[in-house]
Amino acid sequence: MKIIVTGGAGFIGGNFVHYMLKEHPEYQIICLDKLTYAGNMETLEPVMDNPNFTFVKADIADRDAVYALFEKEKPDVVVNFAAESHVDRSITDPGIFLQTNIIGTGVLLDACRIYGIKRYHQVSTDEVYGDLPLDRPDLFFTEETPLHTSSPYSASKASADLLVMAYHRTYGLPTTISRCSNNYGPYHFPEKLIPLMIANALKDKPLPVYGKGENVRDWLYVEDHCRAIDMIIHKGRVGEIYNIGGHNERTNLQVVKTVLKELGKSEDLITYVTDRPGHDRRYAIDPAKIHAELGWEPLTLFDEGIKKTVKWYLENREWWEHIISGDYQQYYEKMYKNR
Ligand code: NAD
Ligand code: DAU
Repeated sequence: MKIIVTGGAGFIGGNFVHYMLKEHPEYQIICLDKLTYAGNMETLEPVMDNPNFTFVKADIADRDAVYALFEKEKPDVVVNFAAESHVDRSITDPGIFLQTNIIGTGVLLDACRIYGIKRYHQVSTDEVYGDLPLDRPDLFFTEETPLHTSSPYSASKASADLLVMAYHRTYGLPTTISRCSNNYGPYHFPEKLIPLMIANALKDKPLPVYGKGENVRDWLYVEDHCRAIDMIIHKGRVGEIYNIGGHNERTNLQVVKTVLKELGKSEDLITYVTDRPGHDRRYAIDPAKIHAELGWEPLTLFDEGIKKTVKWYLENREWWEHIISGDYQQYYEKMYKNR
């Protein structure tokens, strides 16, 4: 089996590359990644010598480069993780989100149509469903929940999903889509809530909590997401959408306090800052379909997962310190100064 993994130098794609080479050592994995600010070769360093792993630097929206790769490699499966993924960046600069997340997905789908494929899997997000009210804990996102996006990021991801569904219906392309809740774990870029709070707390810097910290996210350990995608590409029904989540809802404030407790740092570091425009209130996935059809369920509960994550950031300081010592500092200034 030969799999092209796009966005494999990022957080979840990188974890997926490691997971697949471990679980299926006979598979060939080709990572196609543009290496944007979020792509990091240090994440792939442990597998660069593996003869079954190849890295190709390219943009998924570059039609010539993508077609050339498909012509050369003739992959069996494509798993598309490549995306601009940060909601806050989509609010300040939406254009690149449309380019990569929509146009790039369209180019990959065309390549699959032209060169043939056994499966195209689109890594989507629960954000395409919009949000749920805080006072209705009985409500969850199912695969039938209408698309109702809030940010340029989620709108671009929903657009990509619609393209995938259209290529399945019109061209019979064998596609699947997964919509996962918030991931956490190793190699998570420090612009996102959990690694940002770990990095700031370790440097005794203020922890910027948006609004009152009451927004709710449904956290899943990244390896559980990788296992779900592995199951979907092998056993998932073509043309279907699968929600992925582990019923693990926490307010942002609860998450930040847990991180501080794990690190033995004071809650005095918490600073409330101006809220994110259009901030989604609550995400909550109903994973009944993937559980019933594929037998998937999360294996790492939050208490254990957050301990493993904090330990990883403590043991891999170089990985994230390289990031926060570069261009990231300008981003941080722009996003958080005077907020
Ligand atoms: P990330 O930002 O950490 O990584 C994105 C990767 O894609 C980087 O390696 C980057 O270099 C690459 N990339 C960006 N633009 C590209 C382009 N034009 N061509 C080729 N490569 C490009 O993202 P992530 O958090 O790992 O998310 C991966 C996917 O999972 C995304 O599609 C995201 O929408 C989805 N998702 C993320 C979460 C989460 O909690 N992080 C949850 C559900 C779904
Ligand atoms: O739900 C899946 C989505 O989860 C993915 O599709 C996105 O790619 C991924 O980035 C993530 O989106 P969120 O916006 O939920 O993640 P983020 O880590 O940016 O923020 C999580 C929550 O924490 C959110 O309510 C905003 C809040 N927050 C975030 C940051 C960075 C803060 O309070 N302070 C911060 O500094």
